[in-house]
Amino acid sequence: MAARMKAQRLTMENQYTHKDLDIDKLKDSNHRAFVGGMWDEIGQLQFDYMVSKGLSPSDRFIDVACGSMRGGRFFIRHLEAQHYYGFDLVRDLIDAGLKHEIEPLGLLGKVNFDNLVAAEGFAFPPQWRGIDSGIALSLFTHLTLNSIALCLSNLGAVMKDKAKFYATIFHVTESQQMTPQDHLDGITTFLCQDPYHYTRADMDYLAAKTGWRVEAIEEFGHPRGQSMVVFQKL
Ligand SMILES: C[S@@+](CC[C@H](N)C(=O)[O-])C[C@H]1O[C@@H](n2cnc3c(N)ncnc32)[C@H](O)[C@@H]1O
Repeated sequence: MAARMKAQRLTMENQYTHKDLDIDKLKDSNHRAFVGGMWDEIGQLQFDYMVSKGLSPSDRFIDVACGSMRGGRFFIRHLEAQHYYGFDLVRDLIDAGLKHEIEPLGLLGKVNFDNLVAAEGFAFPPQWRGIDSGIALSLFTHLTLNSIALCLSNLGAVMKDKAKFYATIFHVTESQQMTPQDHLDGITTFLCQDPYHYTRADMDYLAAKTGWRVEAIEEFGHPRGQSMVVFQKL
């Protein structure tokens, strides 16, 4: 019997994996609330962080879990035309971002629509190969360890050697990991439930498994206490 490709589904992993979104319901700025609000603050924060890390307009930059482009609108403005790559699980969020954020800013002309993809299983298009750097802001906080492994592994195939990838986590110590932990702004994180928390050893393990190394875990002023993991592709 012919071998069949099995899609890797992420059923019920987090609120986004079973949300039946509808573009019409994303009017009136609901697309901003869907990705967690703090629209201007967290959008600007992630952009300023990447610029502090040397993000250049000539870089090809991937925004994994771009959502409705809370950060994307800053990145698209900064980068050369067609150098922004946005990936998410939810097509409606990307479309709402284009319609309600990118178009009013007059930035649609800088977007290559083939570089905005919604798919399961971190199925990044192979033609995206050659990306210089990227970010996943508030993605790993919603993912299990195995899904993070899949994300990093598939990302490795489209990013350049030595490329840096920046991803936020709720960072806890080994002694904190097994019990719920409180963070800023009333957030509680868990070992086995979204929002998830992780240790440095978890990140080192995932990186080693998938062809990356962890350069650092940094505080970067996130208002809910997320930390930034700096990965470098081997
Ligand atoms: C808290 S929002 C953050 C969005 C964006 N990074 C930002 O800063 O506004 C989380 C995003 O992760 C996306 N997401 C969740 N699971 C995903 C998966 N398995 N693959 C791709 N995106 C996913 C959601 O659809 C949502 O857009």
